[in-house]
Amino acid sequence: MNMYNLPLIGVVGSGIMGNGIAQVFAMNGYKVVLVDVTEAALNNAKQSMEKSLEKLAKKQNDIQVDEILNRVEFTTDKMHLQNADLVIEAITENIEVKKALFKELDQLCEQKTILASNTSSLLISEIAVVTNRRDRVCGLHFFNPVPVMNLVEITGTDETSDETLAKAEDFVSSINKESIRVNDTPLFVVNRLLVPLICEAISLVDEGTASPEDVDKGMMLGANHPIGPLRLADMVGLDTMLHIQEALYNKTQDSKYRVPDLLREMVAAGELGRKSGKGFYQYT
Ligand code: CAA
Ligand code: NAD
Repeated sequence: MNMYNLPLIGVVGSGIMGNGIAQVFAMNGYKVVLVDVTEAALNNAKQSMEKSLEKLAKKQNDIQVDEILNRVEFTTDKMHLQNADLVIEAITENIEVKKALFKELDQLCEQKTILASNTSSLLISEIAVVTNRRDRVCGLHFFNPVPVMNLVEITGTDETSDETLAKAEDFVSSINKESIRVNDTPLFVVNRLLVPLICEAISLVDEGTASPEDVDKGMMLGANHPIGPLRLADMVGLDTMLHIQEALYNKTQDSKYRVPDLLREMVAAGELGRKSGKGFYQYT
């Protein structure tokens, strides 16, 4: 517990997702420790959070930007996660890197701490296996942009306890989000449907069937999607898209989930979408 008498939340990884997750907990009164490996990443996270809070403050009088930012401790020191009640991992989508982090967190966090992963595509059981608290490991999969999207997918493994899942559900409802329970399967529910659609859109561009603008316009006007799949891919990050589709293909070996060549080429060229300034679209 902390000065607000609410559980302490830790978030590891302050990129697109981590800063959004930290923000929504802080907006709901929690004290949050947000950890990344560099000060530069933490400074970017703070700026993104501030921008998002300012957007929200224009519409909601009760959003006090400075007060919310003050509830977040931006640090490179993982020791500050030691007595957190819940730690949510939101680092790069790579199984080995995530396993190394969970091993470290398992050693440094108190017994009570629930360790959750925001992974988009990896199995929670494969991450949990490196810990000595498999009953207290689960998936908490948020959606981008976190302050706007209302869903969190909650995943337990065969070893996750009912108590952990119930607490996870309580945490999600305490930040005014909805949850669905999903079995520990590659890509869970939403990405299993969404990511192949995005990859198909990338293949359409690769094959020369239509331009990115026309593919996106097609899905916005023809299927009422809020933004087109290629703009969405840029928003998610093309490196993350690649890791997700690769995980799906590797797990299923189904050729329908083959990674589009264009996606690999763009990532190799450093075109990662919004976060690098260029993807299917240019960002200034
Ligand atoms: N923080 C706060 N508010 C934000 C925001 C943020 N980060 N981003 C957008 N908003 C607000 C804007 O202020 C705006 O508010 P008003 O309508 O009150 O003015 C509203 O959201 C709409 O924003 P914009 O007008 O700038 O842009 P938009 O109309 O395109 O809407 C969007 C933005 C809501 C994100 C919309 O584009 C959308 O729904 N896109 C699809 C998002 C989606 O599918 N996400 C899932 C990605 S997959 C995933 O996350 C899982 C994974 O593992 C990869
Ligand atoms: P990102 O590339 O924007 O940020 C990742 C951050 O993690 C970086 O700031 C990096 O410095 C940091 N990091 C890497 N290793 C670290 C370590 N060992 N300790 C501390 N920090 C470390 O990535 P993202 O898009 O925020 O994705 C993070 C996770 O969330 C991934 O598992 C991804 O699949 C998942 N996810 C992404 C989206 C999305 O739309 N981008 C949506 C839902 C879930």
